[in-house]
Formats: sequence, C-alpha cells, structure tokens
Amino acid sequence: MEIKVAKNAGFCFGVKRAIELVNKLSSEGKPVYTYGDIIHNESVVKELEEKGVRVVNDLDELKNLEKGTLVIRSHGIPKSDYDKLADLGAEFQDATCPFVKKIHKLAREYSEEPDNQIVIVGSRNHPEVIGIKGWCLTEPVIFETKEEAEAYNGNPLKKHVILAQTTFNLNKFQDIVEILEKKRYYSIVLNTICDATSKRQTETEKLAGEADAMIVVGGRHSSNTQKLYDICIKKCVDTYYIQTPEDLDIRKLRLFRCVGITAGASTPNNIIEEVRTRMAEMSFEEMLEESLKTTRHN
Ligand code: F3S
Repeated sequence: MEIKVAKNAGFCFGVKRAIELVNKLSSEGKPVYTYGDIIHNESVVKELEEKGVRVVNDLDELKNLEKGTLVIRSHGIPKSDYDKLADLGAEFQDATCPFVKKIHKLAREYSEEPDNQIVIVGSRNHPEVIGIKGWCLTEPVIFETKEEAEAYNGNPLKKHVILAQTTFNLNKFQDIVEILEKKRYYSIVLNTICDATSKRQTETEKLAGEADAMIVVGGRHSSNTQKLYDICIKKCVDTYYIQTPEDLDIRKLRLFRCVGITAGASTPNNIIEEVRTRMAEMSFEEMLEESLKTTRHN
C-alpha cells in the first residue's frame, strides 16, 4: 500500500504559536488559563489540563480564580471582551493569529464608513467569526452557504465589503462572491482566507483525486478539518474522518492501494505521524502475510 501525507497537514503557524505560548507560561509555574479550548483538539486540551492549564469559558469566572495569566487563543475575540478584561484588571497574553487581527482591523475600518455593509463569509457560530463580528461598528451580514447569499436582499445602495473566515473553503467563498456580484451589489472583495488554509485545501483536493481512500485527521469540533472532509468526500467516496489513530478502521483500509492522509490546522504532528506509522505497519504486515502465503504454496 502506498501512503501519501499532505505536505501542509497539521498545525499552522498561528496554532503553533498559541500552543507554544501556553506551554511557556505553564512552565513558569504561575496559573495559566485559556479563554475557551486553545485549539479544537481534545487530546491537546487534555494534555494541557494535565499540566494544570485551565479552560475558562466566561470571563466572569476569572473573578473567583487565583490570579494568573489568561491566554487568548488564535481565533481572536470581540472588542467587547478586551474591554471586559480591562474592567476586570485581568492579566492576559494575546495569541490571536496576526492574520485574524488583520481582519479585525479591516472590519473596524470599513464599518466606520456608513455607506459600507460588511459581509462575513464563514460559520456564524465559529469563535473566529464571532470575534470578527465584534469588531464591526455596524451589524454585519454573515453567509455560511451559497443558498443564504442567493436569498439575500440587502440595500443595493451600500458598498458590500466582503471578508472571509480564515479557514473558509476558497471555492465556496468565490461562489458566494459571484452570487453577490450577479445580484449587482457593488462589492469590495477582501479575500482574507489564510494562505496556510488555501494551500492545505488545494493540496488535499489534489491528493483526494489521486488516492483510493482518504483519512482526514482532526478534532470533532474543528471546522477547518470538517471543511477538509467535505473537500475529500467530493473527490473520494472512501474518506474517513478520525480524531486519533485508535479510530482507524484497519480492516476497511486494507482494501486500498493508495491511501492519502490530511489533517486540520489543529492536529498535532505526532498524531499525524502515528496515523502514518500505523498505516505503514499494516501495510508491512500485509506484505509479510502475502510472502508467507507464497512460501507455503511453493
Ligand atoms: Fe492563523 Fe491561518 Fe492558522 S489564520 S491560526 S495561520 S489557519
């Protein structure tokens, strides 16, 4: 069996930076809190918990906790949360990805102009989108799907400033932009999809077209991993979404000649490596079985 791992699979720069910051702070011995799970990956969150890092889901919880440092994760937060942190006098370190920060700045600046309508293309319940929305001075429109864009009936006199969630599917983003342009909305398109995301998605799509089966590794709640799965399943019906190497269905995978592996931005490299090793071991066992069969026949 041939095993191909996507080159850009796994931790992106922003996630790596956030995890490194949490690890550094926790090694200093003071209490460390993260605002929400630092990444959408259960095993990483559990590992950090074992080191004493605690997840805070509501900033008010800080009032009853020992003084420590709160880490803001790479997804970013709304402006109102920074205000609340200042009111609480809380100590914090900001691991918001610089690419997400740039979107906050754009959302703020463009929404200062009353003739502009901000449009965010992304998953409305995703923390990154909630954060971006929280930097707009006027109510943005959010599109998750092409259908929502089709049904949109906005003010034609407004300039539509279109931003994207950094991990949104590039093709879907382009489709939504096209729909708005066909509806004759004057629009300013700011493709804020992160380069790491577009590279990972393009590469995954190519790999899924070549492989007989695809394994997508990532947390259940990781929206960028879900998007990779959606891309793969369109090209390769035998696509499997797993969280850990233990989820691999070895019996099914044995049937394929070429298996591709890809992973979301919040999947640690050691998990990807473990999946690859298990697949390689399986392939080796198979070879051994085959050669034993041949020896017996001879
Ligand atoms: Fe940043 Fe891109 Fe990762 S926006 S958090 S480097 S996917």
